[in-house]
Amino acid sequence: MGKLFDRTILITGGAGFIGSHVVRLFVKKYPDYRIINLDKLTYAGNLANLTDISHEANYTFVKGDIIDSEFINKVFLDYKIDSVIHLAAESHVDRSITNPLEFVMTNVVGTVNLLNAARKAWGDFKSDKNLFYHISTDEVYGTLGETGLFTEETPYDPHSPYSASKASSDHFVRAYFDTYKLPVVISNCSNNYGSFHFPEKLIPLSINNIKNMKSIPIYGKGENIRDWLFVEDHASAIDVIFHKAKTGETYNIGGNNEWKNIDLINLLCTIMDKKLNRPQGTSASLITYVKDRAGHDMRYAIDSSKLQRELGWSPSLKFEQGLEKTVDWYLANEEWLKNVTSGEYLKFYEQQYVAR
Ligand code: NAD
Ligand code: TYD
Repeated sequence: MGKLFDRTILITGGAGFIGSHVVRLFVKKYPDYRIINLDKLTYAGNLANLTDISHEANYTFVKGDIIDSEFINKVFLDYKIDSVIHLAAESHVDRSITNPLEFVMTNVVGTVNLLNAARKAWGDFKSDKNLFYHISTDEVYGTLGETGLFTEETPYDPHSPYSASKASSDHFVRAYFDTYKLPVVISNCSNNYGSFHFPEKLIPLSINNIKNMKSIPIYGKGENIRDWLFVEDHASAIDVIFHKAKTGETYNIGGNNEWKNIDLINLLCTIMDKKLNRPQGTSASLITYVKDRAGHDMRYAIDSSKLQRELGWSPSLKFEQGLEKTVDWYLANEEWLKNVTSGEYLKFYEQQYVAR
């Protein structure tokens, strides 16, 4: 007979950047939990992010699309899913400007499919372990002026198709709590950085470009501000919220770490010159100001005091340490970077797993 697990958790989007860190943390820390990683393996999903844990007894990968409601219902029944950590999403703002409908399909329709499947399955085999944990972003709150922070009470005011789709999915999750008493929790996190980050986002794109002596595109004047959190600190916050949160609650997650884009890139350039033994100033000479992103939010900054006060979470790393660690990882993992920028990994993994 197979091992009996304490819980069976469906993690969606577990082959992506943040999802892979969450899957790794849960698989390693909780051998008595069975982790089902459901991922479509889009351009952003990569099983090479999980090679170190893929053979663990409590880990199962299932390839599939959250837009496919029949398939999702079957996953809930086949694996007797008792809780969900939902990260699968289209996540890049620039792509959402080019193709908004894809974001509506995955981020809104996909989320509603998962909510429906949870509602149906947990109607049939209800347990006190049932929890639908939805991972969201601070971008739903819109943009800040020079002062102030986003709190859990800040009204939603999304500006990009990405943030509008995430806001919509958050509303559906709350509606299922209010209407059907589905046990849900939501967290809204600031910008993440760290290993396995797809090199279309600011930090990994810049590391890759500096490495290859290509220009670093800075949108507008580079004065937009983001609040950066090390991805492993986001994963640890998700662990704490999953285990301790009161259902129906929302928690903001952030590192209290605001950086103007241009200041961040200058710091990154200094680190890269040092690591690559290049004369100081080499990387900064690659900085190129380009046309601004349409609807570009000026400033994001998170007040995470509710999470810190009520659930006892705090970030572990200072930004300078985290950024240096991130650079070291990218320089040590050239093959990963080469594969994700060539698309080779997709071809390889498509042959390993057949869609159900
Ligand atoms: P990512 O783009 O790196 O990964 C997304 C994953 O979802 C990929 O593995 C992809 O294959 C999978 N996926 C996409 N569409 C799917 C579908 N239709 N069915 C099944 N799987 C699908 O994203 P990320 O940066 O890891 O973000 C994960 C979650 O965290 C998202 O919900 C995002 O909105 C949220 N978030 C991200 C950040 C950030 O800074 N990256 C900050 C706050 C919140
Ligand atoms: P990004 O990493 O795309 O995250 P988000 O848009 O979700 O905050 O961008 C972070 C910031 O960097 C944002 O203000 C846009 C800016 N940016 C650039 O200046 N150049 C780039 O090439 C990219 C990808 C982003």
